[in-house]
Amino acid sequence: MYEQKQSIASLVADRLGVAADDVWMAIEYPPDPRLGDLALPCFRFAKTLRKAPPAIAADAAEVLRQSGLFARVDVAGGYVNVTLRRGPVAAGVIDQAQRDVAALFSRRRHTGRRAAVDYSSPNIAKPFGVGHLRSTMIGQSICRLLAADGFEVVGINHLGDWGTQFGKNIVAYLKWGDEETVRRDPVKELFRLYVRFHEEAKDKPELEDEARAWFKRLEDGDEEATRLWKWFIAESLKAFEQTYRRLGVRFDHYLGESFYNDKMDAVVDELRQRGLLTESEGAEVVDLSAWNMPPCIIRKSDGATIYATRDLAAALYRHDVLGATDLIYVVGAEQKLHFAQVFKVLELMGRDWAAHCHHIAFGMMKYNGERLSTRRGKVVYLEEVLERAVQEARAIIEEKNPGLPDKDRVAETVGIGAVVFNDLKNNRLHDVDFRWEDVLNFDGETGPYVQYTHARACSVLRRAEAEGVPVTSPPVLADEALADSEWQLVHQLAQSNESLERAVDGFDPSVMARHVLDVCHAFNRFYHDAPILGAEDDLRAFRLALTDATRRVLAHGLYLLGLEAPEAM
Ligand code: ARG
Repeated sequence: MYEQKQSIASLVADRLGVAADDVWMAIEYPPDPRLGDLALPCFRFAKTLRKAPPAIAADAAEVLRQSGLFARVDVAGGYVNVTLRRGPVAAGVIDQAQRDVAALFSRRRHTGRRAAVDYSSPNIAKPFGVGHLRSTMIGQSICRLLAADGFEVVGINHLGDWGTQFGKNIVAYLKWGDEETVRRDPVKELFRLYVRFHEEAKDKPELEDEARAWFKRLEDGDEEATRLWKWFIAESLKAFEQTYRRLGVRFDHYLGESFYNDKMDAVVDELRQRGLLTESEGAEVVDLSAWNMPPCIIRKSDGATIYATRDLAAALYRHDVLGATDLIYVVGAEQKLHFAQVFKVLELMGRDWAAHCHHIAFGMMKYNGERLSTRRGKVVYLEEVLERAVQEARAIIEEKNPGLPDKDRVAETVGIGAVVFNDLKNNRLHDVDFRWEDVLNFDGETGPYVQYTHARACSVLRRAEAEGVPVTSPPVLADEALADSEWQLVHQLAQSNESLERAVDGFDPSVMARHVLDVCHAFNRFYHDAPILGAEDDLRAFRLALTDATRRVLAHGLYLLGLEAPEAM
């Protein structure tokens, strides 16, 4: 409703002598569509204008009526209710979707800014945990949403590829591992060895000393240690990349924690020069007590720098070298304090862009109601979840549509889409419960439901083509020629822009997921209420164009969420 809101805002702003943006922000959708399509509550202008809201509303209504742009303008108490002209608005929205659907979604508000989005960031030689899975999917969608709103996006995988853990990996591999098995299934095997290390180290503490010694060798650049470390990374990455490929995820940079090894001293030096470092129990820290936070540890008593120091070096690199104006971190809520500390230290280091650093936290994923934890060795392997989803999707398709060509490819798209959509459809801060029966339910609020609705629209268009009826741009119908279900669908499509903006402002893909679901519900109502190919002349042309616009909006919405949109299923 961008254009309609725009006209109301500028007309009313001129008349009342207030800012157009303030009017724009005040416009609402009335809870009952019978009241009108848009409502302007005038209460917020009462103070500045020193007038009662009903009088302001009457004033605003008058200028809107005079414009002749609207079907009806009513005053109710302090509200102005505006009924739009269905015919021209519908034609405008549909035409826009057909010509440039991306523009229907976005005004590209952030053109000129560059966002570095840190997401997925799994740890080498450990399974891709559910936290990383959530980060991957939410991160991928945030990348696409930000790009759609004008950001130049740089996707970064901050791999956990450094730390004392690698001493343990090396010891375990040399004692109990073999090359063949690691190659066959690197992530599982390396993790199995790692778990074994911890079990055996309970009785044999000398293993810990050995591991420390190997990590020291790695830090000192020892050839054997480096060779094994690099090999673990390469094998793990191969496995991660397979998953990324299936999910359609790609990164602009793999810059793991080890990348910052030679950039740490500069951070520590600067902190010291600025007088920010203090000593605490042998460690060097930045005191954050004035902000009610525990100290940010920069260098431990043994001289080793840690996670936070690396994140400081990484932030400077992203801003100074990669040219990012906005730094986005899609990481689980349990790291909230860590990022609050890092951002505060950046601010104390005089980096005013610390105000543009955002930790995008998210809730936990439960699997059939149960919590998962990597430490206890209870792991759900993402690969296995995806595989099962694809197989179940295959079975459903086999049952629903046995004649479908390309069943394997569609099953892949639908199965993966089901897992991704399930993860994105709720506010990212909420915990997600993963239940098979919900995820793949074609009639529930799921990925398959949205994909199926898209395929249904495509199938109408295919039938039209087969009957020799071309899809055209929409004719402008008389206002009363549009049925309510048609109008509600148009109304939904027209809210694509606001949905995108809210999703971007809140870094929350669920807003977009909600939008595509609402479009689906509206389309399915229209589909059941109104014959499309059975209608005649202008009405048929209009309904076909509306179907075409819906298909485009759904495909684009799915894209923004990281899902594909098969044309038949
Ligand atoms: N590898 C970390 C973990 O698994 C996540 C890294 C997030 N990104 C960052 N810049 N700290 O917990």
